[in-house]
Amino acid sequence: MADKLIIFDTTLRDGEQSPGASMTKDEKLRIARQLERLRVDVIEAGFAASSNGDFEAVKTIAEHIRESTICSLARANDRDIARSAEALAHAARGRIHTFIATSPLHMEKKLRMTPDQVFEQAKQAVRFARNLCGDIEFSPEDGYRSEPDFLCRVLEAVIAEGATTINIPDTVGYAVPELYGNFIRELRERIPNSDKAIWSVHCHNDLGMAVANSLAGVKIGGARQVECTINGLGERAGNCSLEEVVMAVRTRRDYFGLDVGIDTTQIVPASRMVSQTTGFVVQPNKAVVGANAFAHASGIHQDGVLKARDTYEIMRAEDVGWSANKIVLGKLSGRNAFKQRLQELGVELESESEVNAAFARFKDLADRKTEIFDEDIIALVGDESVTDEREHYRYLSLSQRSETGERPHARVAFVIGSEEFTVDSDGNGPVDATLKAIESKAQSGAEMLLYSVNAITSGSTESQGEVTVRLQHGGRVVNGVGADPDIVVASAKAYLAALNKLHAKGERVAAQG
Ligand code: KIV
Ligand code: ZN
Repeated sequence: MADKLIIFDTTLRDGEQSPGASMTKDEKLRIARQLERLRVDVIEAGFAASSNGDFEAVKTIAEHIRESTICSLARANDRDIARSAEALAHAARGRIHTFIATSPLHMEKKLRMTPDQVFEQAKQAVRFARNLCGDIEFSPEDGYRSEPDFLCRVLEAVIAEGATTINIPDTVGYAVPELYGNFIRELRERIPNSDKAIWSVHCHNDLGMAVANSLAGVKIGGARQVECTINGLGERAGNCSLEEVVMAVRTRRDYFGLDVGIDTTQIVPASRMVSQTTGFVVQPNKAVVGANAFAHASGIHQDGVLKARDTYEIMRAEDVGWSANKIVLGKLSGRNAFKQRLQELGVELESESEVNAAFARFKDLADRKTEIFDEDIIALVGDESVTDEREHYRYLSLSQRSETGERPHARVAFVIGSEEFTVDSDGNGPVDATLKAIESKAQSGAEMLLYSVNAITSGSTESQGEVTVRLQHGGRVVNGVGADPDIVVASAKAYLAALNKLHAKGERVAAQG
């Protein structure tokens, strides 16, 4: 039997560290449920000690997910570790992932600690964690740029203290495949008790090599866990992408000789859910999950695929879930069918009145759009952030006028706090006029970093438009997402959703701080 490669997903922790990608507890639970359907082995649900919001998210996910191990990140100190253990108390299987930087640069400039102090703290942290949880992962942050001798000393000691997984992060994406693979192999060969732990790779994509480096860590280094995120989401250029690693190992099983426990048909639904929730759009030519990944445009390729699909196809689109994009509901669907579909999608609305409100929006959408897809339903529920009465900014209605030769004009009605406003504005285009109208009243002073529109499902103009607005204010970056068959309305919703995120000033400690 082939060895198993453990898939450790950190979309909800390292992925969420990407500026603007922060998610609410409900959004995280929805994604965690999809990761469970995908059958990932470990879900890193967050960094429990970083904020009350993160603690609650890890705790809720630990309470609801039964099939995957739930992990919480913790700096190498008693408080962080105890907080993680508390959040994981009800997990079917919990893991504490503790880390401390070990590279000369990070120890001296960031931690201002000597190597001996770091060594003692790492040992002490793992000893403390091991008393609270049987499954402990240790990461030497910036491990790839650490002195091998020092790293061997630290890793041998933490394994002796009970660390069950040793993860070697290429924190800044500096590695190249052969060197990274050899680095891990040499550590495993030199450390006397290395066989007492599972070795793991964690690569960032700054030079576009995160997947290649991770695979080299597996093939050359003998690692048996890969840390990755859906769509490669993550800070800067992102993390190693789950879908690429999984499909590489599966498609080239002849070379890697490893099994993965992933249900690959859930890959595309997971990709869409993460993209829709965070507003991070997937590029069309992205491997596996990009809209063009299986599109054979050239005549020669089309001809070949029609004669025998393996002439140009090394994977089947349906194996990664492209066919999962089905029409689920329509105008005649009832409340029960809608509620059941919500459950299947992992969406839990808190009360019957929330289900009723979502169902009313569904009916409204079904009147305007004949085919309702899963993605439409996720977008519709995501719209809670605009229609939920607890939100500070809420969309009410919009009218706009544009005509050749005339300056476009918009009138937007919306709520701020408990007061209703109707505001007019001109603009360069209908979207510009709409957002100017909102801003003239909201006075957020935020700078817009990004505005993008996409079709939620097929490329057809019947699809809902999904708008992402990225705003920056006071050192914070947030993404707002809005969907509607009318892209001007979608833009207003996205802008208000972003303002809501800026309004909810969740303070959080940075993992690498
Ligand atoms: O990239 C990194 O070093 C990390 C650690 C906290 C594991 O994400
Ligand atoms: Zn990382």
